[in-house]
Amino acid sequence: MRVLIVLAHPRLGSFNHAIAAAVGAALAAEGHAVDTCDLYAEGFDPLFAADELNRDCELPPRLAAEIDRLKAADAVVIVHPNWWSQAPAILKGWLDRVLRVGVAYRFGANEKGEGVMVSLLNTQKALVFTTSNTPQAAEQALYGDPLDTYWKRCVWGALGIPTQRRNFEPVILSTPDQRATWLTEATQLARETLC
Ligand SMILES: Cc1cc2nc3c(=O)[nH]c(=O)nc-3n(C[C@H](O)[C@H](O)[C@H](O)COP(=O)(O)O)c2cc1C
Repeated sequence: MRVLIVLAHPRLGSFNHAIAAAVGAALAAEGHAVDTCDLYAEGFDPLFAADELNRDCELPPRLAAEIDRLKAADAVVIVHPNWWSQAPAILKGWLDRVLRVGVAYRFGANEKGEGVMVSLLNTQKALVFTTSNTPQAAEQALYGDPLDTYWKRCVWGALGIPTQRRNFEPVILSTPDQRATWLTEATQLARETLC
């Protein structure tokens, strides 16, 4: 299986980097072809240019290359911190620019004649790892866990791609032992979900 890991954290050495590295190594050890896209390190430009609203526009080569990476993936792993109950802007920009109509999805109709999005990707599964400091119960009670809705229903779910998510928290209070346990859990979940 070809797996694309998309990582959105600005600091090398972050716990998010550790998750991406551990999951990537575990999947590679199982024989999967892993492509890790570290959005900050690669300098991904999240700004959506006006011309990109035109379906037939000529895509900048770097954007076309990013789309090719996603189109090659049988599975996608997303890794990012919770920033104001959302993904960092660089990852939102990646989604806006890479999930293009006519490329990543098309519009179709269900049996009731209602408009739906139909995936044009090879991606069969998505796995999302997030990190935060707010206790999970509070995130759910106060805000309804927006990241869960976003990834499972608004993005991958809207394209019909089954999605699992695991949030690790509170990172700020975690010990090295706790983080090691989380990394083990992340790799196990990746193997169970994607292997
Ligand atoms: C701009 C910004 C916004 C943040 N917003 C939230 C938030 O809304 N909820 C929360 O629990 N943590 C929030 N945090 C804390 C991060 O989620 C936390 O630092 C990160 O998950 C820790 O992972 P790391 O060690 O890999 O950086 C925010 C941090 C930053 C820098």
